[in-house]
Amino acid sequence: MFYFLTTFGCQMNEHDSERIRGVLEENGWQPASGPGTADLLVFNTCAVRESAESRLLGRLGEASRLKKERPGRLVALGGCFAQSRREKLFDELPFLDVAFGPGSISELPRLLEAASATVTGDSQPAPSCCFDTGPGLSAGLPSRRSDRFRAWVQVMSGCTNCCSYCIVPSVRGPERSRPEAEIVTEAETLVEQGVVEITLLGQNVNAYGLDLEPDGGRRFTFAGLLASLDAIAGLERIRFTTSHPRDLGNDLIEAIRDLPGVCEHLHLPSQSGSTRVLERMKRGYSREEYLALSDRLYEAVPGLALTTDLIVGFPGEREEDFYRTTTLVQSCRFDSAFTFVFSPRPGTEAAALPGRVPQKAVRRRMRELVRLTQALAEEKNRKLAGRRLQVLVEGASRRESGQLRGRTRTNKIVNFSGSAGAGDLVDVIVDSATSTTLKGRQAG
Ligand code: SAM
Ligand code: SF4
Ligand code: F3S
Repeated sequence: MFYFLTTFGCQMNEHDSERIRGVLEENGWQPASGPGTADLLVFNTCAVRESAESRLLGRLGEASRLKKERPGRLVALGGCFAQSRREKLFDELPFLDVAFGPGSISELPRLLEAASATVTGDSQPAPSCCFDTGPGLSAGLPSRRSDRFRAWVQVMSGCTNCCSYCIVPSVRGPERSRPEAEIVTEAETLVEQGVVEITLLGQNVNAYGLDLEPDGGRRFTFAGLLASLDAIAGLERIRFTTSHPRDLGNDLIEAIRDLPGVCEHLHLPSQSGSTRVLERMKRGYSREEYLALSDRLYEAVPGLALTTDLIVGFPGEREEDFYRTTTLVQSCRFDSAFTFVFSPRPGTEAAALPGRVPQKAVRRRMRELVRLTQALAEEKNRKLAGRRLQVLVEGASRRESGQLRGRTRTNKIVNFSGSAGAGDLVDVIVDSATSTTLKGRQAG
């Protein structure tokens, strides 16, 4: 029996998809070469913006067609969109057989069995579903990773913040940290399997440990977790995402500065440069606090790459608020920025706020912001020309034939000439740069 899995959304979902693959393959399913040859179509979904849902609905058209072709074929929807719609899904998508929340991956074999047990001849299976009620940790389930040298490690699930625009807390539940010893054991096992770089995942990693019982007087913190992971021999690089500016303390800045394995890159979503908008977003910090934090970070960690998320067109965003976002971007000299158009999410506070920004203004602000962030990224990357940087080789370059591709510790993509193999750490001299990529040659 063959399955075909399509993933939408963030790294958390990509990681959950490795668990979905693991669980399916442990239960006898094999990957199909395409949807047409699959007996089971699985979609791991995202609900963070309307665009993610529209992309999903586009792909579901094909699933509906394939289902008509063979009604016994199973269609399953997991992840955040599924959790946000729950049982309503079966009315909205009549061809759907199975639905499960992001924290219910372990239930998938049971749900598939229940659905297929009801298939007789050409009839459609009876729908079966399981939505999350407890912590959404998929760690501990079997996993199928696609990368031999890099791996994700979930350190916590859920989110307890209440950013007024965000649907994540309502679909992923409250914050829960995994015990430190469990995370360290997982990282050690990954290193034994050949992994040299891990990325720790959580919606707000700075809150790691706050919900854990102290151990003999030792409080668990994210900086403490980084120190424990840094001690693992053979683990060359430790990354993490996402940090919340409100909760980022000096101990984490010192960890990035002092721990050799922790990479000099911080993704620190600012969302807006206007305190007035940040207040309406319920982010818990002001423009000035964010600027002071970025100053402290650059001062403490030489060569740090700072990246961010920005939302344009938040309800009530005036021209002067947007201007303040552009000046914050200039002051912070971000290495890259993900820019999003505000999307009202059902049930969130911001969806009900007055002051919708006209589409025309949103589009113009977006264009300006993208142009600005790209220009700043290019300027910053160009300054790296002539520098010798450590690169983890990922394999052959996708764009430049005969070239290799890898990433610097600061998470920049590098295409370079050389003779190393995937998983090697090599030094590369940078020759040129664009806003997104560096070019260079392997150092002799
Ligand atoms: N927990 C992380 C944080 O606080 O930054 C990431 C959360 S979310 C998965 C990733 C990004 O999506 C957010 O940083 C935000 O910029 C964006 N986002 C979330 N909700 C949005 C919405 N309703 N409209 C537009 N962008 C949104
Ligand atoms: Fe959403 Fe805010 Fe939590 Fe990030 S910190 S997941 S933006 S509620
Ligand atoms: Fe991620 Fe989308 Fe869920 S961004 S946490 S998959 S809503």
